[in-house]
Amino acid sequence: METLGVDLGERSYPIYIGPGLLDRLAELLPALAGKQVLVVTNTTVAPLYLDQVMSGFEGLQASSLVLPDGEQYKTLDTLNQIYTALLERKHSRTTTLVALGGGVIGDITGFAAASYQRGVDFIQIPTTLLSQVDSSVGGKTGVNHPLGKNMIGAFHQPKAVIADTETLNTLPERELSAGLAEVIKYGLIRDQQFLSWIEDNMGLLVARDPVAMTYAIRRSCEIKAEVVAADEREGGLRAILNLGHTFGHAIEAAQGYGQWLHGEAVGAGMVMALDLSARLGFIPAEAVERGRSVIAAAGLPVLGPANMTIDTYLEKMAVDKKNIDARIRLVLLKTMGEAMITADFDQGLLRETLHECTAQA
Ligand code: NAD
Ligand code: GLY
Repeated sequence: METLGVDLGERSYPIYIGPGLLDRLAELLPALAGKQVLVVTNTTVAPLYLDQVMSGFEGLQASSLVLPDGEQYKTLDTLNQIYTALLERKHSRTTTLVALGGGVIGDITGFAAASYQRGVDFIQIPTTLLSQVDSSVGGKTGVNHPLGKNMIGAFHQPKAVIADTETLNTLPERELSAGLAEVIKYGLIRDQQFLSWIEDNMGLLVARDPVAMTYAIRRSCEIKAEVVAADEREGGLRAILNLGHTFGHAIEAAQGYGQWLHGEAVGAGMVMALDLSARLGFIPAEAVERGRSVIAAAGLPVLGPANMTIDTYLEKMAVDKKNIDARIRLVLLKTMGEAMITADFDQGLLRETLHECTAQA
């Protein structure tokens, strides 16, 4: 097992990564505020892992709530089901919520924890690659609004992240690729050496080699923890974790949540960010090709959907949390392995990128 820390003063917490951790929960759990525990999961993950997880809470007043599965359920209505369960079961402020599942369950459960009785503790047990390398770490929680993704939420750090790498064995291939998008992101924004390692080891990663996978998760979490520790509430630096996400969120929102997976949209979105970085003269054309190749090798789309117009992109991109005074701000690459955030780019070049990076009908 690998143990990392997210260093946030009194809100610091450990990230445990390794095989077989679901069987070691009792040993890994942080000190709980009370005896009440609500494990929130979904209809796909429950039959796979819920019993195993519940046995880690023996001796406590633990129960579970199984939500419907899908990004389309990351809504205020679903969130309300968590509040209802907590109230019906008389959970007080010393309760602990446990998110067992991917990023959707993690984000929504985290937001329930941030807001129930003005804030209770929660633990992340991420079971997708994407949630193990990204969404379970850093305390961003929330739900979608029909007019924008993740628009309703709060920063609320978990008390621990327990990532059992064996859970990845049941993950569908498409979901594995979606997680690899975020792994590639870390290389592109912050660590050129890691990017080269990913390129060299993509075959092993796609084949779910446990050693390669554990290294990729560890290095990704290290980078995320470093950035979050430096800028927890995204005053500046943390925005670099959103490389490709402004384009990606536009794709997800325009296609209807759940059609394109978040990681797939980020894959195509990162190609767009690379393309624009090249048009602005920051990186050479070969770097765009290099990015495109590694993203394609992960089994991800490298073009946006054919049914999206440039105006649809611009309309959706205008609703993004990075924007200031309604001006689109984008994460771009200064060089490979180093990101920057800027609103200072020619709209004509952005249009060229969107045209170039969209599939032809
Ligand atoms: P997800 O939660 O929808 O999970 C993907 C699918 O895999 C679901 O059908 C799920 O039920 C299933 N699944 C989960 N674990 C499984 C397992 N071990 N075996 C088989 N199936 C399993 O999607 P995701 O990619 O994990 O997360 C995407 C979400 O995360 C998006 O809503 C995105 O906005 C959010 N996100 C949040 C942050 C953050 O910092 N909070 C960062 C990145 C993404
Ligand atoms: N996934 C982006 C962030 O956590 O800031």
